[in-house]
This record gives sequence, C-alpha cells and structure tokens, in this order.
Amino acid sequence: MNFLSLIEAKREGKILAPEQIQEFIREFTAGEIPDYQMAAMLMAIYFRGLNTAETTALTLAMRDSGDVLTFPRDTRPLVDKHSTGGIGDKVSLPLAPLLACLGFRVPMISGRGLGITGGTLDKLDSIPGFKTLLPPAQIIKQVQQVGCVICGQTDTMVPADKKIYALRDASGTVPSIPLITASILSKKLAESLNALILDVKFGCAAFMQTKADARKLAKAMAALGNECGTNTRAMLTDMNTPVGHAAGNWLEVKESIGCLEGREPADLLELVLDSAAHLLVQTKKSKSFAAARKQAEDCLNSGEPRQKWNEMIVAQGANLKAFNRKLALDSTAKTVVELKSEKPGYVSKCDARTIGEVIRDLGGGRLTKDSVIDYDVGVDQIAKPGGRVEKSGVLCRVHAADSIAAKMAVTRLKTAFEITAKRPTKTPPVVEVISR
Ligand code: URA
Repeated sequence: MNFLSLIEAKREGKILAPEQIQEFIREFTAGEIPDYQMAAMLMAIYFRGLNTAETTALTLAMRDSGDVLTFPRDTRPLVDKHSTGGIGDKVSLPLAPLLACLGFRVPMISGRGLGITGGTLDKLDSIPGFKTLLPPAQIIKQVQQVGCVICGQTDTMVPADKKIYALRDASGTVPSIPLITASILSKKLAESLNALILDVKFGCAAFMQTKADARKLAKAMAALGNECGTNTRAMLTDMNTPVGHAAGNWLEVKESIGCLEGREPADLLELVLDSAAHLLVQTKKSKSFAAARKQAEDCLNSGEPRQKWNEMIVAQGANLKAFNRKLALDSTAKTVVELKSEKPGYVSKCDARTIGEVIRDLGGGRLTKDSVIDYDVGVDQIAKPGGRVEKSGVLCRVHAADSIAAKMAVTRLKTAFEITAKRPTKTPPVVEVISR
C-alpha cells in the first residue's frame, strides 16, 4: 500500500475506502508505517474529517487490530461508561464497583491522560501495588468473579488505539470528532458490551469546547455504538468547572472513596448516579429513570460498593494496608499551599482549563508522551461556582513537589477564580441526554 498517496488524498479532502482504512490500520499496528507519516494522516483527518462510513471503518479496524474480549454466558449484562475527558473527572472510580453491586459485569478498559485531561489509569497507578495492565484472561476472570475491573488495554487489545492515542496527544490532533469516536468506541466495542453510557463533555477544559460540537460528537458516537449492536446513550456534561473539589491523580482517588462512603461532592455523585441509572434503563433492569436513580442511590448508601472497591483493587494487586495508610494522610505531596480569596462573595468562575494546565505543569500530567507522572501533586478544596467564600477563605489548596512550584501554581490559579457579590445561578452537571 502506498500510504503517502492516502495521506495526500485525505489532505485534499478525498474519501478513503473502508479497505484502505483497514489496510493502513493493520500496517500501522504491525509497525510498517512510521509515526511521522501516521501523525501526518491524523492531522489531515483533523482538518478534513471522516464521513460516517470512514469513521465506522476506522472504528472497526481499530477494534479488530487486537483481541476482542469474549465472556461466558451470564445473566448479568456487560456494561461500561466512558468519558471524553475532563479535569477532576473521577466518575469511573466509584461507578465501576457501584455497577457491579447493581448486578452488572463491568470490563472497564480505560485510558491515560490526554492533553490536560486526566486519565483513569494514571489515577489508579497512584494506588500502592495496583496493576492496570492485565492479560485478557485475567480481565475476564475478574469480571466474572468480582463483577468489575478497571484496566488498560493490553498490547493485544486495540493496539492500534494505544499507538494512535499517544501520537494524537503529542501531535495536537486530539479534538477531532471522528478520531475521538473511533478511539472510544473501538475500545468499548472490544469489550463485547450490552450497553454503554458516554459522558461527552463540553466547555473550556473539554476537547469539544461548545455544546453544539459536543452534541455532534455525542450523536456520532451514540449512532455508531447502536449500529454496532451496543445500546449506547450519551450525556452532555459541563466541563467549564472541574468535577468535585479535587483534581490530580491521588487526590481524585481519595475523593472517589469519599463519594463511595456517601460524602459529597454533589456533582460527582450526580454523574455517578445518573450514569448507573441510564445503564439500568438501557438494559431494562429498571422501567423508569426515576426508579433506576433510586435503585442506584440505595445501592450506594448500602455501603456495598465501598466493599466492592476494596475487592476490586485487591484483585488487581493493591496493598490494602498501604492504601488505607495513604488515605489517612492529608497530603502525600511535599508541600501544600492555600490560595486565599482577596474578598468575600460568591464564586462565579472556577476555570477548569487553568486548573488542568497548572496540574499538568506541576507534574500531574504529560507534556510529551514519555513524561513521568507525579501522582501526588494536584489541587483540592476547590471552591465551586455558587459557593460562598469569605475574605481570606480558601479557594483551593495546591499540592506540589516543592515550594517554588507551589507558589508559581498559586499565582497562576488566582486567574482561575472570580468572586462576585451576587450568587450566580448554578448549572446542572448533566444538561442533555442523547439516545440515538
Ligand atoms: N478518550 C479516549 O479514549 N479517546 C479519545 O480520543 C478521547 C478520550
């Protein structure tokens, strides 16, 4: 295959045939196409787009670039949730054990941070001993026995996405509807799911900055997922403000445990319970959304998902004693510095993009595909829009590796917050749901 001519064709806006897409994905996965040529193709796709047939071909070729999980027959439906990525977005962590306790099987194949957005696997890597890389046989065994697993795609699962994902991160080609669709759905379709709930984010820290673009992405993914036999719904959710009050790998694990133990934050709880409720309705385990929501809430309040969390992390190698010791610490970073409000009032802005950039630059995210992550850095006690703050009240705390980095972060974070005399109207985290 002459890949250069395909790059040129896409650069000129031509339509690629499904066989051409299948072939270049096969060759790229086999290491026969160099990264620089694939990066050029990704940029051409970024600017020229892919039509529905091309996106379907790319998604299926990526799914088939490796093993597709096959599970034993079971009455428990196979379900999963995937987010397009955000700041403080830790929904998957409490959701997986909750879903297992609601009678689902959850093979949650997750990703690493992309751009400024955090990745579920990076958060889990902050747990002592926890293994995110499991062979397919162990994934299946754990799903059958524990009910849930959160892990990365192995070398043999969707390897094409693994390679392309890293290239996109380093080549400025992340916010592309067909590339996000193919990336997310190829992984989800390789899990042989019955139902999938997608959390498509819009706002200043999302890949899709406007609600209209997020809706386009949500519609494309819901249509393709349903067409491929997985009951798929998408929620459009706000990513102008971080989810919860903490962002940064370990700090988010800690906040997720708080959520499993019935403590706030309200927006995280809402995203977790709404995701579970949709899946209960999609799989016909519940007749109405209201009944499903109540079922999910009762289950969370029973404390079982908190126990299930322990079961899941131990099954994946975590040292529970070390985990509990770490949980008891106020901070695992070397330095903690508070950002204080200069005046009293209501928080009217808490800019997720600035917070995400600061965390990445503190070492919590990647600037290149080989960057080494510092799991302990981040921002917590984040004051959210609508909240009251007094003069010298805490707007957030910075956890950093040294005091110079902490001070620089605090200075930058000043611009993330706005305080007004009037209480702003609150926007709900979920603004729309798309089924088809
Ligand atoms: N999550 C993914 O898995 N892929 C993307 O492209 C974006 C978010």
